[in-house]
Order: sequence, then structure tokens, then C-alpha cells
Amino acid sequence: MLISFEGIDGCGKSTHIEKVKSYLTEKGYDVHVFREPGGTPVSEKIRDILLNSKDDIHPLAESLLFSAARAQLVATSIRPLLEKGAIVILDRFYDSTTAYQGYGRQVIPVPDIERLNALATQNLEPDLTIYLKIDPEMAYRRRLEVREEDRMERAGPAFFQRVSAGFDALAAREQRIVALDSSRSPEETFQAIIDHLEKKLPR
Ligand code: TMP
Repeated sequence: MLISFEGIDGCGKSTHIEKVKSYLTEKGYDVHVFREPGGTPVSEKIRDILLNSKDDIHPLAESLLFSAARAQLVATSIRPLLEKGAIVILDRFYDSTTAYQGYGRQVIPVPDIERLNALATQNLEPDLTIYLKIDPEMAYRRRLEVREEDRMERAGPAFFQRVSAGFDALAAREQRIVALDSSRSPEETFQAIIDHLEKKLPR
């Protein structure tokens, strides 16, 4: 089973992913978590370019780099684990490319980004996507509390408004995406995640 978590930076994804991992592990499932971009040695090197490079990266090159990192992770880690019956949890997947590089950058048309996503994943789709929805302003304040901004986060408030609207559009279109209000308490959000997850778990 493949579960992805999505949302703009500062939505609280990483905290919930750790809790969901513990919850499922305690229930006896074989659970693996990967972050995107990243999760394999090659993909982590690509992550470093994408998040820490001081050079300008053209939106098409950026989209291809995110996709290259993903192609490596899917082929070498995710598929083999799914074939063994494991649960794989992804801290972001291709919806992030649609939202950030498609809706956010507004250079490459969204349908082109979606073709790229299908190629990189060889049509692998999540069984469930949890989209943690938060106001971009609130997310910005949360981010500043934690750490310095990376290359993507420096794109500015208008960019994050567009990314957020992009995730909303995807959630309205795709049945597998569940949008959850992440401005509530962490306990309430976690319980909502578990309620949706329980409906999908293999028995
Ligand atoms: P993270 O901070 O959640 O690990 O994500 C890394 C950054 O990369 C975050 O700003 C979102 C961005 N990103 C994209 O722009 N496109 C993508 O396809 C992915 C996976 C992440």
C-alpha cells in the first residue's frame, strides 16, 4: 500500500508522518518512509541541488530534476517494497510537482507536468493521499519559527498562494486525495488522518 502526504511547506506533514509510522508499526505492518526529493543516495544528491543551489534553475530543469529523483526512488526502493507487501509512506510525491512546478511556477503547462509525472513513476499512483491544508500565511509563520528558508521556500507569498490553490484543485479532482484542515490541534488532525487510513488498510 502506498500513502503520500502533501501540502505547502509548514503544513505539519513530517510530524504526522512519524506518528502514522509508529501507529502502523505497532499494528504489525512493515512500514517504510521516504521523503521527496530524496530517499536514495542519488535522489538525495539531486535534493541538495534543488534546495541548496545558489544558481538559478530554469522551471523545466527544476521539474526534470524532481522527476529524476522520483524515478530513481520509485524504481529502486518503492516498487520492490510494494511487491513485498510493505506499506510505503511518502513525504511528498508527484502531486507536489503538479502543485509547485505546474501551478506555482506557471511556466510548464500542468498537462505537461502530469505527463512527466506518469513517466517518472511509470504510472504508479498512491492508494491514499493525505493533503494537509493550511493557510499559506500561517504556514509561513510556522516555517520561520523552525528554520531558515531553502531555495523553494524563498519563492515568496504569491507563489505559495498559487501552490496552495493547485493542491486544492487536485484535491477537488482526484478521489484518492483527502483534504484535511491542518490548522486544528495536532491531535485532532492526527485522528482525522487515522480515520481515513483505517478505511484503506489491508487486512
Ligand atoms: P520538504 O521541505 O517537504 O522536504 O520539500 C522540499 C521542497 O521541495 C518543498 O519546498 C517542496 C518542493 N518540491 C517541489 O517543488 N516539487 C516536488 O516535486 C517536490 C517533491 C518537492
